[in-house]
Amino acid sequence: MTLAVGVIGLGVMGAEHLRILREETARVRVTAICDADPERSAQLAQGAKVIADPRALIRSDEVEAVVIASPDATHADLAIACLSAGKPALCEKPLATSASDALRVVEKEVELGRRLLQIGYMRRFDPAYVEMKQLAVGGQIGAPVVLHNTHRNAAAPDWFTGAMAVTNSFVHEIDISRWLLDAEMATAFVHQSSGGDPVFITMETKRGEIVSTEVFMNAHYGYHVHAQLVGRFGTVQMAQPSDIVTNKRSHHGHFWPVNWVPRFRNAYRIQMAAWVQSIETGCPAGASAWDGYVATAIAEQVVIAMKGTQKTKLLIGARPALYA
Ligand SMILES: NC(=O)c1ccc[n+]([C@@H]2O[C@H](COP(=O)([O-])OP(=O)(O)OC[C@H]3O[C@@H](n4cnc5c(N)ncnc54)[C@H](O)[C@@H]3O)[C@@H](O)[C@H]2O)c1
Repeated sequence: MTLAVGVIGLGVMGAEHLRILREETARVRVTAICDADPERSAQLAQGAKVIADPRALIRSDEVEAVVIASPDATHADLAIACLSAGKPALCEKPLATSASDALRVVEKEVELGRRLLQIGYMRRFDPAYVEMKQLAVGGQIGAPVVLHNTHRNAAAPDWFTGAMAVTNSFVHEIDISRWLLDAEMATAFVHQSSGGDPVFITMETKRGEIVSTEVFMNAHYGYHVHAQLVGRFGTVQMAQPSDIVTNKRSHHGHFWPVNWVPRFRNAYRIQMAAWVQSIETGCPAGASAWDGYVATAIAEQVVIAMKGTQKTKLLIGARPALYA
């Protein structure tokens, strides 16, 4: 049996999901695609049905499961449409652009009584993060005390506002830090450099671990995500950014990827396989709609904290039993 998948949004991320589904995922076939740009859809169709309206794709009898990779502001309503149709979805991060919209999605899934949504926080499937977590959980560096995160992009597009460094980029660190430490965040403090880029965010977990993050949207030299976990007896951190080292024009070293696609290629592939398997087995994988809500709710409060100089107490609602 193969799973009939529809893909909504065929930009940088959607095209990569489409490629992974077609070339690297077993037991699936892409039956329908949708993009606001009809030319883009036509270019990528390869026999899949092109459907102009994302809601029509979700309702289509030819689609059993949906990948949502359209812009952030579309996610919540499309995720709710998937829940209404009873179809599983891999929804790109962030789940929504406001905590209230994210909560609407959670409430819809709770009403349904079963988990159909996986949020595209793919770092949970990245081999480096997975190994760091295994080492920490195995007690090999002692109790974690600090997690240092670095999130640098080569260049942000013009439309990327200061708040989006938090709501679109830093949400990854919110999610991966909660997952790595298995802890909820309690407070946040924001320090912005002059001009607003980079931004430094320090969070404390409810157990008192410190999570520091630099988000630098215009670091120029390349895409660079790094994490170091400091324990009472040792540390674990990511190693080199690529698998090879070059000697070239008086330079020795690694190349930096231009964006997230090469850096997280394995994570996206493993995430997709886990999503398909979760639909086959009925056992949810990855970040849940609740995790998506928490990341968006914290991001929203961090954006408010950017305007002040105080440490902010983070407020998150009670986790519904569906996500225990
Ligand atoms: N998980 C990750 O690492 C990661 C990385 C990058 C982007 N993302 C997320 O993926 C999503 C897409 O990002 P991107 O970089 O591919 O953006 P993009 O701008 O390259 O692509 C977005 C595509 O969606 C299409 N679109 C716009 N509105 C639409 C609609 N209503 N219905 C269908 N298609 C629509 C556009 O025509 C475009 O082709 C964003 O939510 C982004 O935050 C996640």
